[in-house]
Amino acid sequence: DNPGTLYEAIGGPSAITKLVEAFYSRVAKHPDLQPIFPDDFTETIRKQEQFLTQFLGGPAYYTEEHGHPMLRARHLPFEITPTRKNAWLYCMDGALEEAEIEEPYRSVIFERLTHTANHMMNTPETRK
Ligand code: HEM
Repeated sequence: DNPGTLYEAIGGPSAITKLVEAFYSRVAKHPDLQPIFPDDFTETIRKQEQFLTQFLGGPAYYTEEHGHPMLRARHLPFEITPTRKNAWLYCMDGALEEAEIEEPYRSVIFERLTHTANHMMNTPETRK
């Protein structure tokens, strides 16, 4: 794969697997997120591994299987409030730590994900 990508810098596929598993084990337990996610995370994990691989400069597995990510459109069926966005980022922050993603990559990745997460909000904070 392409050297010099974040994907390679953090350790490639094994790092992605650790990160995504650590992330969804947090999501599954988070009271603000658990209600909108399926009980079985198998497919969610598989798709997120594909997506994050390409997001960090690795092979375009997500696009190869699912086409253009259009992430905001794919999230419209779910009410993504500021509270849920913050919960998602909180879970990701913990996962980056658990997966031992090192600086400066950890901060760079978290900033990029913060930007994407902000873009995903589609519902004001009306109810919980
Ligand atoms: C799918 C929630 C942000 C990437 C999903 C699903 C939910 C969700 C409920 C469907 C899970 C399933 O049915 O398997 C949220 C919430 C977010 C958020 C509450 C808070 C801002 C993000 C961000 C990214 C992302 C920042 C990008 C890094 C994905 C991908 C999928 C997905 C790739 C799979 C889409 C597909 O079905 O092909 N998300 N998400 N999400 N999310 Fe998010």
